[in-house]
Amino acid sequence: MAKYRIAVLPGDGIGRDVIEAARIVLDKITLDAEYIYGDVGWEFWKHEGNPLPERTIELLKNTDCCLFGAITSKPKEEAETELEPALKGKGLTYYSPIVKIRQLFDLYVNLRPCKAYQGNPLNYRDNIDIVIFRENTEDLYSGVEFFPLPDQVRTAIEQNNPRMEKFKAVPSDEIAVSLRILTKKGCDRIIRKAFEYAKKTGRKSVTIVEKPNIIRETSGMMIREARQIAREYPEIELSEANIDAMCMWLIKNPQNYSILCTSNMFGDIVSDLCGQLIGGLGFASSANIGDNYALFEPTHGSAPKYARLYKVNPIATLLACKLMIEWLGEPKKAELLEYSIAEVIKEGKVRTYDLGGNSTTLDVAHEIASKLRG
Ligand code: NAI
Ligand code: MG
Repeated sequence: MAKYRIAVLPGDGIGRDVIEAARIVLDKITLDAEYIYGDVGWEFWKHEGNPLPERTIELLKNTDCCLFGAITSKPKEEAETELEPALKGKGLTYYSPIVKIRQLFDLYVNLRPCKAYQGNPLNYRDNIDIVIFRENTEDLYSGVEFFPLPDQVRTAIEQNNPRMEKFKAVPSDEIAVSLRILTKKGCDRIIRKAFEYAKKTGRKSVTIVEKPNIIRETSGMMIREARQIAREYPEIELSEANIDAMCMWLIKNPQNYSILCTSNMFGDIVSDLCGQLIGGLGFASSANIGDNYALFEPTHGSAPKYARLYKVNPIATLLACKLMIEWLGEPKKAELLEYSIAEVIKEGKVRTYDLGGNSTTLDVAHEIASKLRG
């Protein structure tokens, strides 16, 4: 039996292209792994009414980690329209499989390294090397939302918070509420992971990105916990920044930042910004990590217009493979993979369209694989 069991969920569109590229590289790196493919995405929504079938959840439960491609998601009405006729009108509702997996397996760390590899013509600046720790299970993503606002909820808020007074004249069917829920445990564990990572990798600072001056209770909790935890790591500097100012600073001086740690929504925003600083979606990888399971993916979606054309850049996915190999406990192989990716970027001979080249997704994978010594 192989040492590692890895679930592979290619998903939709270019998810399939980039996962095919990943396999070329993974096979060459001779990881002692068994790859077990599973079903996820829009096709399964259309034909089974479930984008994440039960059998796929079982597969995840029986593997060490998951490599994920990308999926297509569409708004509610469109989702209903595209269902197979036999499934229509059954009250099925579409949900995001990736958000569900994060919740089901409590993958609370969303790790997004954003590094400007030398020679990448899309780098915004040289010397950018930021790692984002985004809390992955709470905040506005908890799905605790109301529309129209139920009377009981409305009354409870009115009785407990005088600021609700200003909405008094607005009818309940004209108010939408999405709750931003943060817990002490949620804040603690993401902050701790950021500091532990800094310690392990010799990074000098952790910047907490929130908005405590306005969102006093939730952002306030993050900052309070960060100050507390930072005391355990005297060698690492804690800085605090507001999300809006941070977006500005990241454009002005991105090379000044090392580790950013933030809640789910702000993390989503700031990681897209940072992804663009280092070459955009073709380079932005991510890991979703819990205490017992992890899922690795490029941050891009299924880019339907490029589906199965082998045009897109596989590097984001290959960097996600690097994160996966590292997490599995094979740092040498991970380092070798990153080195090979960096070499191919630097040489600049084999490039996909986003880099101005006309090589295919699989050409890039073969080129990177050719640099690996298994
Ligand atoms: P997208 O990320 O799929 O693509 C946007 C554009 O970015 C593409 O048209 C392409 O020009 C470029 N691009 C994306 N990946 C690239 C790569 N590897 N190399 C070079 N260029 C690349 O975002 P879009 O078009 O907004 O969404 C398409 C579908 O993907 C939607 O259904 C959306 O819901 C879904 N999506 C899924 C995600 C996931 O699976 N985690 C994340 C984001 C979107
Ligand atoms: Mg996003």
